[in-house]
Amino acid sequence: MSAASASVVDIAEKYYDSSDADEFYRRIWGGEDIHIGLYEAEQQPVRDASRRTVQTMAEHLALSPDSHVLDIGAGYGGAARYLAARFGCQVTCVNLSETQNERNRQLCAAADLDDRVAVVHGNFEALPLHDKSFDAVWSQDAILHSGDRPRVLDEVNRVLKPGGEFIFTDPMQADDCPDGVLGPVLDRIHLDSLGSIAFYRDQLTRRGMTEIEVLDLTEHLGRHYSRVREELSAHYDDVVNHVSKAYVDRMLAGLEHWVTAQRNGYLAWGILHFRAHS
Ligand SMILES: C[S@@+](CC[C@H](N)C(=O)[O-])C[C@H]1O[C@@H](n2cnc3c(N)ncnc32)[C@H](O)[C@@H]1O
Repeated sequence: MSAASASVVDIAEKYYDSSDADEFYRRIWGGEDIHIGLYEAEQQPVRDASRRTVQTMAEHLALSPDSHVLDIGAGYGGAARYLAARFGCQVTCVNLSETQNERNRQLCAAADLDDRVAVVHGNFEALPLHDKSFDAVWSQDAILHSGDRPRVLDEVNRVLKPGGEFIFTDPMQADDCPDGVLGPVLDRIHLDSLGSIAFYRDQLTRRGMTEIEVLDLTEHLGRHYSRVREELSAHYDDVVNHVSKAYVDRMLAGLEHWVTAQRNGYLAWGILHFRAHS
């Protein structure tokens, strides 16, 4: 791993392990699914819309109790528990943050799913897993944190069984995003670029994968960050009792940058679904 990529990984680990992030995601996002939601109504609760993304992605896979799914960047494991409970499949979560992994393990035990969900501390740029061992790889809003996305895609391709499926979401830049306009957005995540739909199509095709479907759902990105911002503003006085004021104020400003960038047509988000070479 290059020094630059290693430092990006360190930043993500420290951020998600911090008590500020942990409290924020629990209080405002629901603490299970911490990704962009799919909204049926303007004022839908963030937690419900976020769960809807998991349900929608799951409908695109034909999972059974024999399936083994890998979730990379699994956060608190909301999707893993959903898949294991609904389909009876095995799910392995690989995630960088031990704070989140510990909560994930507790939630799985409480839901009686710890025999079906394994939680592994690891980096998705170097998966501690065997070649060709998963029927599906799943990821939600996590690959953006990598400073070396091609390497993550190499790893996904390596661990998928022939013909296995890769389904993921990622906050991305628009294919035609002008150079130099994303500074305020990227600052919040300490990166110098985002992926794009064209980037993932190109990179995955080069690895012999075929596109099953790409659903462009970009409008939900702006709506989601607006909703999170509204909730954070509405509960500001309570949240700052548990999360540092500096974190909350930075988050409010950061969310505003994402909403503005989406309105300006600079961002993209959606469900991308590919099949590995058989
Ligand atoms: C926005 S959260 C999404 C979590 C989860 N996928 C969900 O949808 O609820 C991004 C996640 O990516 C994880 N992550 C970031 N960089 C990672 C890396 N290099 N390897 C593994 N996980 C990583 C973080 O720990 C965090 O849980």
